[in-house]
Amino acid sequence: MHPLALARVRAEIEGAQANRVLSTPIQYEETRLQLPFMAACIKEGLRILPPAPQILARIVPEGGKVIDGYFVPGGVDVTSHAYIVQRDGAFYGEDATDFKPERWMVSEKRTFELEAAQLSFGTGARGCMGKDVAMMELYKLLPEVCFCHSSSLPTRLVQGSDLKDDPQLRYRSRAARKVYSYWRGCLQRRSSRYTESQSG
Ligand code: HEM
Repeated sequence: MHPLALARVRAEIEGAQANRVLSTPIQYEETRLQLPFMAACIKEGLRILPPAPQILARIVPEGGKVIDGYFVPGGVDVTSHAYIVQRDGAFYGEDATDFKPERWMVSEKRTFELEAAQLSFGTGARGCMGKDVAMMELYKLLPEVCFCHSSSLPTRLVQGSDLKDDPQLRYRSRAARKVYSYWRGCLQRRSSRYTESQSG
């Protein structure tokens, strides 16, 4: 949990919400264009904690191959580890292991370089086929969760504003309660399974 980043994300969503540039539910393009810090957090999260850290192995063809100056015999499995590659200080700098979304907002050129180096979805002809779908889901779901997952946010937003009767806010509060109670249910079930396994 990064409280400062979360606060900035919420402020960004709050601003966009007040300007009425977000739909319900939030659309992919809206996050991309209206919530640049949220988008940077998503990319930085995928960089620092790639959900599939190791890309699928490739088999070295018969006769072997020289890879980065090393001869690797044919038939050997070769893979890369996104978790390690994406923490390379030579490329990301001294703060390579820090969660720092701002690195994605330096310049268009740097963002392009970072995108090109991102290995979270693998690379080449056998790279993830669902990358675009996954990114769309993350861009749509995570802003909603960040926005909703704070009982105080809608209250603050509503106070003294004309948004009290805004149907979008009512929808978001309801959605937040549903998501929250679902998570709580999962955690409770997991914790009672654990207790049972320990006692039995
Ligand atoms: C955040 C979500 C996801 C992550 C981090 C992820 C990551 C990956 C990685 C690392 C690979 C191996 C790529 C390689 O070896 O170069 C892969 C393969 C694949 N992914 Fe994903 N994936 C995600 C979501 C999805 C989704 C939503 C779908 C389908 C809609 C999907 C479909 C596939 C398929 C079909 C392959 C095999 C591609 C091939 O071997 O040709 N992925 N994914």
